[in-house]
Amino acid sequence: MSILQETYHLNNGVSIPKIALGTWQIATPDAVHPTEFALKNGYVHIDTAHGYGNAKGIREGIKASGVKREDIFITSKVRGESKSYHEAMGNIHDDLEDLNTDYIDLMLIHCPTPWRFFNHKPTRPHFYKENVEVWRAMVEAKEQGLLRAIGVSNFNVDDLKQLIEATGVKPAVNQIRFSIGHTQPEIVSFYQENDILIEAYSSLGTGRLLENEA
Ligand SMILES: NC(=O)c1ccc[n+]([C@@H]2O[C@H](COP(=O)([O-])OP(=O)(O)OC[C@H]3O[C@@H](n4cnc5c(N)ncnc54)[C@H](OP(=O)(O)O)[C@@H]3O)[C@@H](O)[C@H]2O)c1
Repeated sequence: MSILQETYHLNNGVSIPKIALGTWQIATPDAVHPTEFALKNGYVHIDTAHGYGNAKGIREGIKASGVKREDIFITSKVRGESKSYHEAMGNIHDDLEDLNTDYIDLMLIHCPTPWRFFNHKPTRPHFYKENVEVWRAMVEAKEQGLLRAIGVSNFNVDDLKQLIEATGVKPAVNQIRFSIGHTQPEIVSFYQENDILIEAYSSLGTGRLLENEA
């Protein structure tokens, strides 16, 4: 079996393929061919986000690949800026329609704050109450069978504690920036202790690590 098909088990029993095709910074027309090419060559996991605006391109790529929907794992994300129940539900329904699918395998809260407030400092503003609203929509969509698993992205330890305390529902995943030189050990250990999978993004530092000889 290729590593592209190997999986981890999430805390709700769903299997997630270890490697995904990332589609950030790829607009709709440009997303079609890489999606088709990746699926035809063994990728089974596509990572997108409402904010990437490329769901229709991914839909066309999936169609062109001929791979069945049930053989593909799709991750998407509720926008960092969408911080109400209704906006979150709107993002989920837009993605379902644009991807032409009845369900999304994993939906994440893209960011604990609207992006303009986001940084890694403990003093950054928090949106605990708003994230609980977003989470309520995601839990409901999961109960309706629209999402198979739900998680977060870019959350720190306090963001997680507040979410679980208020809702009692643990995320399955935290997708964080993780690469050589940026390993966020406090977040990684806390999430692992809580049986929440840490998923790495920008693991090549958005290409910058390749310029470093060491
Ligand atoms: N949750 C979040 O907030 C979040 C944030 C960022 C990313 N993500 C997800 O993670 C995915 C990956 O993020 P990323 O794009 O920052 O990842 P990355 O893998 O760290 O960097 C990708 C970049 O590396 C360059 N690259 C890759 N392989 C190369 C090679 N063999 N030789 C030379 N250059 C190479 C590419 O440059 P060229 O394009 O110039 O070829 C590409 O732009 C995204 O697509 C998205 O799905 C999520």
